[in-house]
Amino acid sequence: MTEQPPSGRRRLSIRALRGALGVGLASVLASAGLVALSAPAQAADNLGDAAAASGRYFGTALATGHLGEQDYAATADREFNMATPENEMKWDATESSRGSFNFSGGDQIVQHATAAGMQVRGHTLVWYSQLPGWVSGLGATDLQSAMDNHITTLMQHYAGEIYAWDVVNEAFQDGGSGARRPSPFQDKLGDGYIEHAFRTARAADPGAKLCYNDYNIDGVNAKSTAVYNMVKDFKSRGVPIDCVGFQGHFNPQSPVTSDYQQNLERFAALGVDVQITELDIEGSGSAQADSYRKVVTACMAVERCNGITVWGVTDKYSWRSGGTPLLFDGNYQKKPVYDAVLQALGGTPGGDPGDPGDDPGDPGSAACTATYAETQRWGDRFNGQITVRAGDSAISDWTVRVTLHSPQTVPTTWNGQASYDGSVLTMRANGNGSLGAGQSTTFGFTVMANGNWSAPAVASCTAT
Ligand code: XIL
Repeated sequence: MTEQPPSGRRRLSIRALRGALGVGLASVLASAGLVALSAPAQAADNLGDAAAASGRYFGTALATGHLGEQDYAATADREFNMATPENEMKWDATESSRGSFNFSGGDQIVQHATAAGMQVRGHTLVWYSQLPGWVSGLGATDLQSAMDNHITTLMQHYAGEIYAWDVVNEAFQDGGSGARRPSPFQDKLGDGYIEHAFRTARAADPGAKLCYNDYNIDGVNAKSTAVYNMVKDFKSRGVPIDCVGFQGHFNPQSPVTSDYQQNLERFAALGVDVQITELDIEGSGSAQADSYRKVVTACMAVERCNGITVWGVTDKYSWRSGGTPLLFDGNYQKKPVYDAVLQALGGTPGGDPGDPGDDPGDPGSAACTATYAETQRWGDRFNGQITVRAGDSAISDWTVRVTLHSPQTVPTTWNGQASYDGSVLTMRANGNGSLGAGQSTTFGFTVMANGNWSAPAVASCTAT
């Protein structure tokens, strides 16, 4: 991805918009033209659209190593509207030696996600694990400045491209004590490092939501209560925090407890969003489906639970692959748990989204895909090209919606019929609507950046 100045490509603050308008996330974002959540009129047949219908997102962890596998990318692009880099933005990947930053993996995830109409969660800035040895070796003063520099450099590099950052990850101990976990940060900087990290993060990118993220805080227990007390303290003293991430790694020994929803509710009542950030539940069949259903149903019942991310696309690449904890099997087939999740989100299971024949009421929806690429950049503008490809069946017409980023404008388009609604450009086929199965065509447009060089995002492709 081309490096760009951090200033001038900031989107409006989602947090600020939401607070000011007091309305659902999807409608705020849609009206501001900020993101690619599509809100279909009919019951959705994929996870992202189903979640978007209630103003939520449904995301996945993505790993660069698998993006070249066609089924992996196609499944991710079809089902999810939020992506978290599984490892690519962690400290060991981004600053393995002091002051020398590598954004290649993170950039690749952002680029893929954006082209597919997904937003991105940033994961993670300050964590005891996947931390290079040089950090652990620093004395307190140096460690403080290294932490500040790491937070600021990452957040400014990705400013305008990250929906929410996990600023601090896993800072509390397991067990009943509610104590802080020993780490270089905790041991040398003391309890105040978390507050300091959040203040530094807010200054670095005021447009991103700032989350605290942890595991085994899913139900009401000593660890979650310790986190709760910290968030409560932050809110009472004006320390900037917008969300709490509940990782949600479950198995039969560590099941979803009956107080799951109650726990989400007590955090939401503190005035933060709650997000399920790394959901995976080991098991299979109806037991696995029941557990997933509990999590999704709880999130849907809590207004400030605004999104769910599963920790991977397919069982075969899960970090707990032996436990088959995800929604797609190793052949990218939907498992029984998939339908349970889709239904709990309000969607309609049973269809193959690639096959327009499945839903008689919706002939041809999702029968095409659209992929964005920048083809040229000069002076104050760039050209974007969208490749429209028919799915498994021939199509006779297509419509693609593209979200631009304020204050971008489009002076000219080609190979389609353009109309505009706020920051959304709608392109209809113009003599190039008829495509055989798998065939593609392209259309293009020029974007005046007006200081914002963010890539336009494909919001939807529909065909008949
Ligand atoms: C895991 C990744 O999935 C693995 O690929 C990696 O080897 C270790 O980290 N909590 C987190 C995630 O916050 O970053 C972890 O991801 C899983 C536990």
